Amino acid sequence: MSPVDSGSSPKSVTAEDNAAHDAAARSFDPGDWRSVRAQFLLSPDLAHLSNFYFASNPTPVRDAITRYRNAFDENPYNSLDDNMFARDEDMLWRRVCAAAAEYLGGQPDEVALTSSTTMGLALVYHGLVLKPGQEVLTTTHEFYPHYEAMRLACEKWGATMREIPLYESSRDFSVDEAVARIRAALRPNTRVFSIAWVHSGTGVRVPIATIAQVIAEVNRDRDEADRVLFVVDGVHGFGVVDEDVAAMGCDFFSAGTHKWILGPRGTGILWAKRESWALLRPTIPSLMTREPADAWRQNRPPAGPTTGPWVSPGGFFAYEHQWAVAEAFDFVEQIGRRRIQDRIAEMNGLIKEGLADMEHVTLHTPLDPGLSAGIVCFDVRGYEPMDVVRIFRDNGVVASATPYAVSHVRLSAGIVNFPEDVHRALDVVRSLA
Ligand SMILES: Cc1ncc(COP(=O)(O)O)c(C=O)c1O
Repeated sequence: MSPVDSGSSPKSVTAEDNAAHDAAARSFDPGDWRSVRAQFLLSPDLAHLSNFYFASNPTPVRDAITRYRNAFDENPYNSLDDNMFARDEDMLWRRVCAAAAEYLGGQPDEVALTSSTTMGLALVYHGLVLKPGQEVLTTTHEFYPHYEAMRLACEKWGATMREIPLYESSRDFSVDEAVARIRAALRPNTRVFSIAWVHSGTGVRVPIATIAQVIAEVNRDRDEADRVLFVVDGVHGFGVVDEDVAAMGCDFFSAGTHKWILGPRGTGILWAKRESWALLRPTIPSLMTREPADAWRQNRPPAGPTTGPWVSPGGFFAYEHQWAVAEAFDFVEQIGRRRIQDRIAEMNGLIKEGLADMEHVTLHTPLDPGLSAGIVCFDVRGYEPMDVVRIFRDNGVVASATPYAVSHVRLSAGIVNFPEDVHRALDVVRSLA
């Protein structure tokens, strides 16, 4: 549903805008990967194999951004007031929360709207009241913004932070071993266990639901105030893995929607169960709930409990981006979560199989699609990762080097790719033997 259809939209959308939007929507066949690719403006002369990084937006998302942006430029006051503050049922952020909730199998008020994975993680760690002596347990495989959000919050609360490795060899990642290490590492003062769903430095995908079961077992013998809270940096599984996030058993789940969900840049969601939201103190004043502002006007404390919208940061946002996240969820749902998972596994499987056959290449990502997702990490004998990335670029392949202490070359195929993109990348690597 577009704001134009809703009856509550800005009035300034032109007939040409609507015609272009309708034509693109009519010609889109979500069952045909060529038609899916045709929804993107990606340069056709390149093999785009860094899909984990920053989304190119498909036609319906671009169109929605344009419609909202034009409306703001023509009448900023009414465009914002009519769609954000006037009447509850006209608030367009509610569409976004509803679309996110449907996608992840939860409820709209369990969703906060953020600008990135990073922002969501920071809102969790700074909003949780940690007591001195409590610890945050995490892994040595986390990316900088997750690690840093924990470190800053621990410093602020006087809590401690500990990291454990879940594997020595990522290629040989074992669920049993990782789960045993987590179980052994949880201590009576561990208040938070946190992990990334898919590690962007190795490509390993960890089994969130299995880890959640271990944590639930440990929590059975604990008081409510001491239970281990499970925080997930979900960004590289969200939009890749066909699982209901709300059923995985974690307490907090943060993911940008500007990567695999293909949404507008500078957008993300933070999901939590209702009882977990109630544990958070909002960090940034929200514009998505009336109570705190009413309380301010009436000179009294806000009456909780905290819910998702309370934690959605105000002040004014780039709303043309935030509101168009609904179109991104619509787009990926039209294609189908399972089909997207299978396609991404197929394309990245081709990359891994090709690399595994090359004697001068060390593959770091598990071959098993159940233990990996859309990221493939490897090294080429005799080359620094950045040199390989440069050679890829010179040959029309968009690749990256992992920005971790130990760096690897990284390829990441998405739903915009075809086997010819993979073959082009593999030919480049083969030439480096
Ligand atoms: C594992 C992981 N977490 C978090 C982020 C940061 O995501 P965002 O840009 O949405 O904050 C990245 C970036 O790629 C990442 O690899």
